Amino acid sequence: MKSKIIITGGTGYIGSHTAVEFINEGLEVVIVDNLSNSDISVLDRIQSITDVAPTFENIDLTDRVKTTSFFERHKDASGVINFAAFKAVGESVQLPLQYYHNNLNILLNVMDCMDRFEIRNLIFSSSATVYGLPDSFPLTENSKTKKPTSPYGNTKKIGEEVIEDFSKVAKNFKAISLRYFNPIGAHSSGDLGETPTGVPNNLMPFITQTALGKREELKIFGKDYDTIDGTAIRDYIHVVDLAKAHVMAFQRLMKNEAKENFEIFNIGTGIGYSVLDVIASFEKTTKQKLNYSFVDRRSGDVPVLYASTAKAKKELGWNPKLTLDDMTKSSWEWEVKKNIL
Ligand code: UFG
Repeated sequence: MKSKIIITGGTGYIGSHTAVEFINEGLEVVIVDNLSNSDISVLDRIQSITDVAPTFENIDLTDRVKTTSFFERHKDASGVINFAAFKAVGESVQLPLQYYHNNLNILLNVMDCMDRFEIRNLIFSSSATVYGLPDSFPLTENSKTKKPTSPYGNTKKIGEEVIEDFSKVAKNFKAISLRYFNPIGAHSSGDLGETPTGVPNNLMPFITQTALGKREELKIFGKDYDTIDGTAIRDYIHVVDLAKAHVMAFQRLMKNEAKENFEIFNIGTGIGYSVLDVIASFEKTTKQKLNYSFVDRRSGDVPVLYASTAKAKKELGWNPKLTLDDMTKSSWEWEVKKNIL
């Protein structure tokens, strides 16, 4: 029988790409999502890529009763990949209680149900934001975590602590937290990608929407950082490589290869690129000319953030294969295709 996996938030940007990779590996995927920040059409897109229609249930996982009955129906699952969460950094500063309520209650309900129905394996969607304003680079999993600069980030940090504490006492329970750096890019089919609601906060969708004429110009936040060209540096990771990391982490748990009940892995490329590097790559791969200007730094932004990915490479056998050019090109192809069709 096929192994069954539950993907919460599986119609979202990273969740949908991860669903594709699990289906490609032959697993039975059950997606649970309340579509609060995604569209039902993503299910058809997953099917058109994989030829498989994943099971889907529309449930708000903050609802304890509905979550419990969902898990009762799927108690034969071998694991959970938990993506379901609010994720807008700026919005979380304005609406802290909503963020703590949503992100933490989802995690607690999911873990309660995993405990109750004896589902042993959890992959948690975390973020490099748990490192706060770092002291030194590259960031390893042993680098000190600090209070993140936003409530969103803090829900990830607290989430990891909840999982760690539970993993110390729960019998047979194992979890892996993946700390994402900056996921960008889209599926090579052009059928899956990021669809931010409203004005994008993140760099890549702002670039593609500007090139398409939906936005007048990109505003680059800060040109006076102590970096090679004055713009901030991030570790951009292709969403398909990131999705594959979830499959490898899950396989590690299933094969009982984990060295501890709770493990953490950085998921980035280990290479830092500046905002101007990303724009140069975008203009090269797409032959588009981007309108941009410089404005003041955005509050809460750190100057530099990049990972050491040595642990993920060694322990998970995971190696990101796609380049910055693959990321900018696929982001553009997705933007164009979704606006034409
Ligand atoms: N940037 C601009 N103009 C824009 C948008 C972004 O210049 O319109 C710059 C930012 O200042 C930053 C870089 O582009 O230097 C990347 O910004 P993003 O908003 O795309 O990403 P962040 O690094 O700010 O945030 C990401 C994730 C968050 C996570 C955070 C910390 O999106 O979920 O990393 O790890 F919390």
